[in-house]
Amino acid sequence: MRIVVIGGSGLIGTNLVSRLRQKGHEVVAASPASGVNTITREGLAEALSGAKVVVDVANSPSFEDKAVLEFFEKSGRNLLAAEAAAGVGHHVALSVVGTERNPDSGYLRAKVAQENLIKASRIPYTILQSTQFFEFVGAIVQSATDGDTFRLSPALFQPVASDDVAAALADIAVAPPANGTIEIAGPEKIPLDAIARQYLAAKADRRQVIADIHARYFGAPLDDKSLTPGDRPRLGAIRFEDWLSGSTAQG
Ligand SMILES: NC(=O)c1ccc[n+]([C@@H]2O[C@H](COP(=O)([O-])OP(=O)(O)OC[C@H]3O[C@@H](n4cnc5c(N)ncnc54)[C@H](OP(=O)(O)O)[C@@H]3O)[C@@H](O)[C@H]2O)c1
Repeated sequence: MRIVVIGGSGLIGTNLVSRLRQKGHEVVAASPASGVNTITREGLAEALSGAKVVVDVANSPSFEDKAVLEFFEKSGRNLLAAEAAAGVGHHVALSVVGTERNPDSGYLRAKVAQENLIKASRIPYTILQSTQFFEFVGAIVQSATDGDTFRLSPALFQPVASDDVAAALADIAVAPPANGTIEIAGPEKIPLDAIARQYLAAKADRRQVIADIHARYFGAPLDDKSLTPGDRPRLGAIRFEDWLSGSTAQG
């Protein structure tokens, strides 16, 4: 089966492309670096020709509120229109757990816009909402710098290895469309301040982490339900502590 991975050169995309190729599919790893651009539409129609499934794991080059909204709206519109023209039968997209519960986050508002375009299109779809990748924890911690310390909410998080997310997408891409949303999270719920302490300890960084229930997460206030999944998420197998200590394949 011909499958196009939009954002095929990224963290998730690279992993997903190799998993789908191992299953014997014809996979196009599409991104601006390979001449396929969902904003300018360069190379898009050619890449989608003959494709049965498209998996969208592209990300915005800028996370600034206006730029990220423009990216996901324009990219989504162009991609879905090109898929309709090419007769694609399944659109799979990667989003974030809790998009609809965090209107104060510009990034998550942009992901809601992306999800709404998908739901409004006539193309059968599956949206996979993931919690934060382990690989993103360092950026979360750095964003919470407060002088010589870090100030983070103790709200529960349930981060997941990107490898587990790519494995889920590889299954979803070859399954029938759910025409709905599926969630994936890591195997453990951990308060965000505790995750930061584990991360800094693994990096031998002795700076202090302060738990602050008012600390915002990229502009959003948090409680235990803000970024954790509902009742029946798919659970990744890799534990954060094992990933950190390099005892898994990811290091
Ligand atoms: N980080 C997290 O914790 C997290 C959690 C849940 C969901 N997600 C979602 O996961 C998805 C993938 O994230 P990631 O970390 O794998 O991203 P990434 O490593 O930053 O890769 C982004 C990809 O998007 C491509 N891209 C950028 N502009 C494009 C355009 N105009 N047209 C086509 N492709 C374009 C890039 O191509 P080039 O390399 O050619 O520039 C690259 O392949 C995102 O949608 C994100 O919202 C992330």
